[in-house]
Amino acid sequence: MASEEASRSPPRSRREPGRRAPRQDKYSVLLPTYNERENLPLIVWLLVKSFSQSGINYEIIIIDDGSPDGTRDVAEQLEKIYGSNKILLRPREKKLGLGTAYIHGLKYATGNYIIIMDADLSHHPKFIPEFIRKQKEGNFDIVSGTRYTGNGGVYGWDLKRKIISRGANFITQILLRPGASDLTGSFRLYRKEVLQKLIEKCVSKGYVFQMEMIIRARQLNYTIGEVPISFVDRVYGESKLGGNEIVSFLKGLLTLFATT
Ligand code: GDD
Ligand code: MN
Repeated sequence: MASEEASRSPPRSRREPGRRAPRQDKYSVLLPTYNERENLPLIVWLLVKSFSQSGINYEIIIIDDGSPDGTRDVAEQLEKIYGSNKILLRPREKKLGLGTAYIHGLKYATGNYIIIMDADLSHHPKFIPEFIRKQKEGNFDIVSGTRYTGNGGVYGWDLKRKIISRGANFITQILLRPGASDLTGSFRLYRKEVLQKLIEKCVSKGYVFQMEMIIRARQLNYTIGEVPISFVDRVYGESKLGGNEIVSFLKGLLTLFATT
């Protein structure tokens, strides 16, 4: 194992006698919430369980956008239960959109890796150890969860929503050839500095943001690993994806097509 390690990793990450052990990896989860009162305690519990079981160092940053359902109060409770070093509530006054929620959360992240996921239980924390394994395996800059290869899949969506998602991926594959199978998904792991760099470059704000991140990543020659995930539609609450998000996705796609 030692020789395999040595041949793959650069000298700086090798542990040498007499030198200090490298800093332990830390994973910051960015959890944007808008009306997720019922889901938040469950997702946090599952995250804590998954990280603790695998002995991973973590923090969970909740970015609540003034949810009228009281999600923020729930988050404050969770902060008390698990400790404010594990649960960091970094709310904003009103609904300012997903893209900027990540930018906001990232400012407070202390981990060297960032995990982005939905708070509505569509993304199961059980996949996170696989993301981490995959990242280490290929020393990837990004690991993207994919619904569209291997054992990945979507459960609980109606035909219309499936067609929208497949369609968005299909059109983007043809126009931009991005080299990743799930462009609109948002269950991903990034090296922190890579995410910072990509966010600087991204111009879109709505749902199209996820797709632009992968396109920009390819332009900048970042490496992307993939982990098949099953996406399960939410049980509590409702999706914030509306007709205007679809229109802005298409606009964003065409802008990218024209400018990249
Ligand atoms: N802070 C904040 N502000 N959070 C938000 C906002 C916002 O304006 N809008 C949505 N969220 C949160 C939700 O509370 C949830 O945790 C997550 O972002 C995803 O929102 P959903 O409304 O559940 O998205 P979805 O299920 O329709 O869409 C999912 O699939 C899309 C396509 O496959 C998400 O994973 C999308 O990111 C993805 O593009
Ligand atoms: Mn959802």
